[in-house]
Amino acid sequence: MDIARTPSSPDGNIEMADAAVEPHDPPEIRREDYRPFPWMVPETRLEFDLGLESTRVRSRLTVARNAKADASPTIRLNGDGLVPTSVKVDGEPTRAYTMDGDDLVLTLPGEAHEIAIETEIDPSSNTQLMGLYASNGMLCTQCESEGFRRITFFPDRPDVLSTFTVRMSGARDQFPILLCNGNRTDEGEEGDTHWAEWHDPWPKPSYLFALVAGDLVARSDSFTTMNGREVELNVWVRDGDLPRTEHAMESLKRSMKWDEEAFGREYDLDLFNIVAVSDFNMGAMENKGLNVFNTKYVLADPETATDGDFDAVEGVIGHEYFHNWSGNRITCRDWFQLSLKEGFTVLRDQLFSQDMGSEPVKRIEDVRILRLAQFPEDSGPLAHPIRPDSYREISNFYTATVYNKGAEVIRMMRTMAGEEAFRKGTDLYFDRHDGEAATCEDFVRSIEDGAGLDLEQFRLWYSQAGTPKVSVELTHEGNEAVLKLRQTVPPTPGQPDKKPMPIPLKLALFDQQSASHSGEQLVVLDTESAEHRFDGFANKPVLSINRGFSAPVTINRAIDREDLVFLAASDDDPFARYEAMQDLMVRHLVAGVGGKLSEEERSRGGQSIAQAMGAILADPDIDDLMRGELMSMPSQTYIAEQMELSDPGLIHAERERLKSLIGSQLSEQLHRLYERAEQVPFSLDAEAKGARKLKTMVLAYAAASDPEKAAELAAHQYDRADNMTDRQGALMVLTGLEGVERTNKLLDFYNRYEGNALVIDKWFALQASSLHPQVVEHVKALADHPDFTLRNPNRVRSLYMAFAGNPQGFHAASGEGYKMIGDLILELDPINAQTAARFVPPLGRWRKVEPQRAALMREQLERIAKAEKLSRDTYEQVSRSLA
Ligand code: PHE
Ligand code: ZN
Repeated sequence: MDIARTPSSPDGNIEMADAAVEPHDPPEIRREDYRPFPWMVPETRLEFDLGLESTRVRSRLTVARNAKADASPTIRLNGDGLVPTSVKVDGEPTRAYTMDGDDLVLTLPGEAHEIAIETEIDPSSNTQLMGLYASNGMLCTQCESEGFRRITFFPDRPDVLSTFTVRMSGARDQFPILLCNGNRTDEGEEGDTHWAEWHDPWPKPSYLFALVAGDLVARSDSFTTMNGREVELNVWVRDGDLPRTEHAMESLKRSMKWDEEAFGREYDLDLFNIVAVSDFNMGAMENKGLNVFNTKYVLADPETATDGDFDAVEGVIGHEYFHNWSGNRITCRDWFQLSLKEGFTVLRDQLFSQDMGSEPVKRIEDVRILRLAQFPEDSGPLAHPIRPDSYREISNFYTATVYNKGAEVIRMMRTMAGEEAFRKGTDLYFDRHDGEAATCEDFVRSIEDGAGLDLEQFRLWYSQAGTPKVSVELTHEGNEAVLKLRQTVPPTPGQPDKKPMPIPLKLALFDQQSASHSGEQLVVLDTESAEHRFDGFANKPVLSINRGFSAPVTINRAIDREDLVFLAASDDDPFARYEAMQDLMVRHLVAGVGGKLSEEERSRGGQSIAQAMGAILADPDIDDLMRGELMSMPSQTYIAEQMELSDPGLIHAERERLKSLIGSQLSEQLHRLYERAEQVPFSLDAEAKGARKLKTMVLAYAAASDPEKAAELAAHQYDRADNMTDRQGALMVLTGLEGVERTNKLLDFYNRYEGNALVIDKWFALQASSLHPQVVEHVKALADHPDFTLRNPNRVRSLYMAFAGNPQGFHAASGEGYKMIGDLILELDPINAQTAARFVPPLGRWRKVEPQRAALMREQLERIAKAEKLSRDTYEQVSRSLA
């Protein structure tokens, strides 16, 4: 048989319907086409001769027929840009292989064989940062999702699990530290080179493979597990960064302890290594026993990291650690199941952070992220279910939908089951599927069986995209309160008609007089509309609904402004309080932007918002972290989401107007708060963090109402800051204002932190996200700054992602902002396709923007689509955005 003509697919596990693949039209991989791999790979042995410019890789795989799959005369080993220098089967050199595209295909006659292949790769020219690459003189790998095939030929799919033994050797002075998955079993020296052998006892898919070689130093510690096993812990960084690793190490130990207590999960190796690298496409990676992190999520000290950075380090350390069970011990059958590990692990890291800090504040932050990143995705051309049905490039599906909405979906199961029953469900899941490559369906069934829930209809949350809208109306008849609920799930690409989904809504009915209610209830809306009657209300109660954000939906409630003011002041659910405050502001802003407010109404509405805010400023029963949340204004993106078509210029102006009104109405109270907060000395406890949050919040309001005073206060805060939170907050406010202090402090900040990449990233990001009217010019100039480079993803994001998220700049009426992002995508695409493709979605939102800007946005997408050569990543995002 001529195997060179077997239909090709980038995944190998999915047979393609159409083998003819245009370079501009990469094939669509479909979930329903999944087939098990015909071969098993029980053992994998790898040998690396490491060099920055040239690394030789020798692999030896034992393969055996997979009785659970259809038999095949051939085995397809995925490659990506590799050339085999030698191929052997059962020890004999062979030329009887074919290259099908980038894959190597061998015919195998027997039941079991040994395949040995040699390749040679050049890590220093790897700018995509997938596979084996060089970063700052060290070598490291990134294999999820399909990076392993850039290292050696292999069935690079998550359902092929193998036991890895790895020997790595290299120049001792260049790579004094050699790390890999599992445990080190041997080491030695030969002249100037040295070597180490590593063995990972846990079978794993290739995407969890990792290797690191370089000049690194470690902060070391240990953790004793619940069964008394001692685990060695190391956080590896470059010399000089060691003092900034304490928080990461403490976070790791807290994660290990928490996973034992909250989910009964114990660590399963004698060693756990974390390595920080400065060139990384994502946040971090959960490779077995050897997590590789973006430096941004490891390094932190008060001088260079904000409170937000500290929290992010803790959250990401937790996230990657929790993957050891939800991801590694139980992995994904195919990449359509990505949310199986990511949605669940995000939920786990959210619950962890809730337990480590303030639960309500963390919940509000997570909802804010969902609304900022996921809601727009769900209402645009890139909308997809948390378990997608097809993709061209899987890297494009590491989305807020798969991660954050995925977490919300599992959180709803937890809400409906109750914490205890939910834990029975997860226990069953871990027990049932340990060692397997599982599916989302396996997870849902385990929760069903373990928690005793019927999730039949609930499965729609896995297959239907789009944010459901729930309209809510409460009426009062006699002694009864009548609640009418109606849901609609909007159409999304490929899904014009939706079925009603089960939507768990926590609610409470407040008695106005006593400002209390007789208990929270859970109502599950699982039909298009429903009516609920509540007895025993002589007066019409005030409805508090979707408390704790129990469902990831949009609520449209018919409710009076006075009732929202009441809830903002008195609701005992902190999220609902926040929501009432947001609702008050959003309604006012949407009406204002829509030209529906007379001057008089605008001022009256603004006054009542300021009044509600004043009550929050004065409330002695809330802590300052929570106060800071209640004081924050809805983001421009979230306001835009509430409108059919948005005019970014008008929204910005209206929002600034309200900010200024609040700032001037509450000026005295705000400044008193500021003075109180200023007295709190630096520490990392909640009180001090709350004080810092308030200070910057007050500065932001002052900047809108009294810019001169704000500049003075901010300059003062900048000068006396003994931590990055205060310094960055002050600089953020100054960067949005005109004046000498802006120039002075930006220069001071740069000089003070020159050479500290993570802080210089902040310097770029602050300017790119500023409210300054000349932000477009500033960003253009910064792109030519000697410290700017397209090779480092953190730096690219700090300038351009910040800019793309800044409506004032990105949506400049001239279209210059769109053009800058268009130029960036085209220039970055050949260097780092994964990162380039992430800049497409902001342009892809053109349908929701007023026609003039929409045309300019579209123009950029069309220009990109016409480029001669485009990566699969960018091609897919652009074509979906134009469809
Ligand atoms: N799996 C990683 C995480 O969520 C994310 C990641 C994906 C990292 C792809 C690198 C490449 O923890
Ligand atoms: Zn993850």
